[in-house]
Amino acid sequence: MAAIDDLFAAAAAAQANAYAPYSRFKVGAAVLTPSGRIFPGCNVENAAYPQGSCAEAGAIAAMALAGERAIAAVMVVGDGDALVTPCGGCRQRIREFAGPGTPIHVAGPEGPRRSFTLDELLPASFGPDHLHHRPLGPGRSDDARDQQLPCQPSDRALPPDRTVATEATAGAARP
Ligand code: THU
Repeated sequence: MAAIDDLFAAAAAAQANAYAPYSRFKVGAAVLTPSGRIFPGCNVENAAYPQGSCAEAGAIAAMALAGERAIAAVMVVGDGDALVTPCGGCRQRIREFAGPGTPIHVAGPEGPRRSFTLDELLPASFGPDHLHHRPLGPGRSDDARDQQLPCQPSDRALPPDRTVATEATAGAARP
């Protein structure tokens, strides 16, 4: 399947650029959006160890920066014999933009090894819908708006002296 091949190629290329001088464990990730765009990311470690970031976090940040708000599939590539499944924090990061059936593919250098659904990796999860008191997120609602912005600032209760830039005021472009 072309999408999986493309996703793997993007994640593998990202892995090559990973900055992992401390763990020496390079990871690449790529997220596919419903529009067909692919956003890669790599782990970026830091001498102050907790400041390092995972490959999935980088890919999701690139996706959000591009204005995309939904994940259709994820690919993670790492070396070694063990399956490099996303860490707990990254499962939750994926959960923000993905549905329970969203595939998460785990690959080694030779290619994809195994596929999971998000719900398999993060069952009974907490997500945006818990904050909105209604179903939200891809696979959890038929509201098209949810594909764009799972957490609308206008839906939040804010103190009167605080304002939050909305999509309109920020002038964000939508594909
Ligand atoms: N790492 C990721 O980038 N993604 C994962 O899903 C698992 C772990 C990174 C974090 C750290 O830089 C290195 O792998 C070793 O834990």
